[in-house]
Amino acid sequence: MTVPLVSQAVPQPGALADRTRSAVTAPTVAVIVVAAGSGNRLGHAEPKAFVLLHMRPLLDHALDSIFGMRWPVQIIVVAPSDRIADARAIAAATAARHEAPASALTIVAGGGTRQDSVDQGVAALLPGIDVVLVHDAARALTPASLCDAVVDAVRSTGHGIIPGLPVVDTIKRVAASGTILGTVNRSELLAVQTPQGFPRAMLAAARAWAVQNGRFEALTDDAALVADAGHTVTVIPGDPLAFKITTPEDLERAELILHVVAATPPQSPLPPRIGTGLDVHAFAADGTTDLWLAGLYWPGERGLSGHSDGDVAAHAICDALLGAAGLGDIGSVFGTTDPRFSGAHGDVFLAETVRLVAAAGYQVGNVSVQIIGNHPKFSLRRAEAETRLAGILSAPINIAATTTDALGFTGRGEGVAATATALLYPLPPAAPGPGQTPDLNWEA
Ligand code: CTP
Ligand code: MG
Repeated sequence: MTVPLVSQAVPQPGALADRTRSAVTAPTVAVIVVAAGSGNRLGHAEPKAFVLLHMRPLLDHALDSIFGMRWPVQIIVVAPSDRIADARAIAAATAARHEAPASALTIVAGGGTRQDSVDQGVAALLPGIDVVLVHDAARALTPASLCDAVVDAVRSTGHGIIPGLPVVDTIKRVAASGTILGTVNRSELLAVQTPQGFPRAMLAAARAWAVQNGRFEALTDDAALVADAGHTVTVIPGDPLAFKITTPEDLERAELILHVVAATPPQSPLPPRIGTGLDVHAFAADGTTDLWLAGLYWPGERGLSGHSDGDVAAHAICDALLGAAGLGDIGSVFGTTDPRFSGAHGDVFLAETVRLVAAAGYQVGNVSVQIIGNHPKFSLRRAEAETRLAGILSAPINIAATTTDALGFTGRGEGVAATATALLYPLPPAAPGPGQTPDLNWEA
């Protein structure tokens, strides 16, 4: 189905030559993932992109789809200006899981409106890009195949492309009083989604036109902006899974979809495997060492001594994962001589461990951690730590903390210990990789 929204100034079909992943190495496609909104309607304390969906941040899910595209793409994440480091950590972990180069990623700060945020993304486009997709991070379960289809359609038509679905409900026009004024002809209506794709030059020209003519306020949708400037935009079939997570009900719906997928463990002739890990570090004597624990920096807290950052929780998880996969332990895998890990923080070890585990044919089922120590007071940042580490693991994680009633070295405040247990599922050869979009169809 191709429904013209505006049928003038049609560029030549095939104006943008088809290029496949094998034919080029530098990306010619960019996806701007707008994730800078606050998510007021969702009603969580943190911005929507960082809200957990099935124990992983929404942004992580959204990026999974983009990394799953068959195109080499530049990914530009537009994040809230005060959460850039968090967005970078999540995106880097997603990239590592997909074995994508870090150079494929750009993180920029967003603006006050969605269009301001798109602007920041457009400003970060690499020179070689000729097709731009603009995508809402809030459409976290969008299948990679939809993103590919948008790119294909932009390339084959040379104009703007948006995915859309027929509206199935009967739509009424209603007065403020509640009186029904009429029934809208449903056959003319489509619910449009993202990613919305455009030839780069067309998007740039349309945005310049909107600035010159003061149209930005009225046109919040990228396709509307491009069509308003006189360019052609047509619709391709959308996907029910590309629905936007706006309200708590939407989040529940997404959770339910992923719950169904998770309840069906990968079919494999091999059983799941578990592993345990333990790590202990003493508090540093110098009093100047920073504290890193469970992937977080703890300003003002006394640091732990160690070869790396002394993050006992992250290290215990690495050992549990490596142990479950039969890959040895953190010391034997990372050693102390590899310069990539000298002074590295726990999240770097974790991301690499998850990559090794995936390469060995396993995906993480869940992880449970117990931190033992008097300081810091962990419960205050428990949710933040779980968000951070769940993003890296692409799996649910629970982090508990306890003191030892003043007994032992942790009770005397000499250091902190952590234990971890990890469950891994073996991946069958043809099964989707960790975090790939489920092959489910949702009846709208
Ligand atoms: N967005 C953005 N910058 C803004 C506003 C929105 O990058 N200033 C992004 C959101 O992060 C989201 C997408 O645009 O991925 C669609 O917006 P919406 O669903 O409305 O998200 P929020 O604006 O975050 O939600 P709300 O309107 O409920 O506050
Ligand atoms: Mg909004």
